[in-house]
Amino acid sequence: TKDQLYVQEITQFKTKEQFWNPHVWYKEMREKSPVFYDEQQDTWNVFLYEDAKKVLSDYQLFPSARDRSLIPVPLEENKVNLIFSDPPEHKKRRALLAKAFTPRSLQMWEPRIKALVDELVGNLVPGEPINIVEKLAIPLPVTIIANLLGVPTEDWKIIKEWSDVLFLSHDLQRVKELKQLKEQAGKEFGAYLYPIVVAKRLDPADDIISDLIRAEYEGSHFTDMEIVHTVMGLLGAGNETTTTLITNMFYSLAEDNMAAYGQLRADPSLAPKVIEEVLRYRFNITLDRRIGEDTDIFGPHMKKDQHIIAWISSANRDESQFPNGEQFDILREGSNKHLTFGGGNHFCLGAPLARMEAVLALEAFVKRFSSYRLADDYIPQDHLGQNSHELKALSIILEE
Ligand code: HEM
Repeated sequence: TKDQLYVQEITQFKTKEQFWNPHVWYKEMREKSPVFYDEQQDTWNVFLYEDAKKVLSDYQLFPSARDRSLIPVPLEENKVNLIFSDPPEHKKRRALLAKAFTPRSLQMWEPRIKALVDELVGNLVPGEPINIVEKLAIPLPVTIIANLLGVPTEDWKIIKEWSDVLFLSHDLQRVKELKQLKEQAGKEFGAYLYPIVVAKRLDPADDIISDLIRAEYEGSHFTDMEIVHTVMGLLGAGNETTTTLITNMFYSLAEDNMAAYGQLRADPSLAPKVIEEVLRYRFNITLDRRIGEDTDIFGPHMKKDQHIIAWISSANRDESQFPNGEQFDILREGSNKHLTFGGGNHFCLGAPLARMEAVLALEAFVKRFSSYRLADDYIPQDHLGQNSHELKALSIILEE
């Protein structure tokens, strides 16, 4: 447990209501203790926008190389993981991967992504309650990333299962059990991916795995095992996050602002702005760093090698950056200043892909359905995961 950080030990949330609406607590922290020391875990916590941004952007003061983290992957497996590295090593690792995520690649992939989106949206049935998480928010990112990586799309369910297990969050009650589950899933997933990588080395195709095989930076290449681990990392980084974005998008447009869907239907070019506002307003995320040297940059004295947590979802509602920040406003100016994709050198490499998936899904949906609403008996709190802020099911009724 020494290598893990636990947010729940800090929030002390117990009720479903608190998990569903953590923003009450965030606001209180912004007002009363914006820089907060948690004794139990010897960890600093910042809740204001400027402070969170500083934590993300100053890699010397707040390096990513660390021996404790909120990120639920065993640290010993992170030798190739760029998330835990700092410049100059980070630059090298990122450059290798970035070759697969250029705007040009994304443009090239757009028709493939659109075809998968149209197929899933085309299968949605109006008139009766459907679980949009199961029907769209889960399969969309997994099938897309499987397709782009070059692994068989029809295997998406088992891929999703493995990556879900690998990225289960830290839980103080189940440390040993989770470690075993993750080791097992990692083994099976690795055994599935390895032959695919080897085959692509002999016979490259138009996909990310082949790009990774070709990628070269200052004479370095990925080994097969590094590609296997990178692919697992991409699935973990990109699946659940994008599922959450799409789920929250449906929730927000139905409940957070009743007029928004009509506005969007009248002007579908608003879709990208809607997505930015969902990312700002309804996305629960915390990021952590190590403290690289003694500092009192935020007031109190913080010591080298303590850890610090940036409460991103609190920063995203900081009134000094986002006037009326507690309101969901699809026309908001500057909503894209949110920190949901991070900031600084680790800024999410998949952000353009996630944005494109969500925008295409929303556009296809708006084109087809005049309106939708939450099912009458739907209570969001009943569908949160264990100690989580994420909806595992969202029951909606579509109107043609
Ligand atoms: C990094 C969020 C989708 C790949 C990050 C970071 C955040 C983030 C906050 C920075 C972590 C840090 O600073 O420690 C999200 C959200 C997503 C999303 C909210 C969806 C809504 C994706 C997708 C992919 C992806 C679809 C790729 C398939 C990555 C990678 C990094 C990263 C490779 C590491 C970058 C680095 O360390 O230099 N993401 N992500 N993400 N993300 Fe995403």
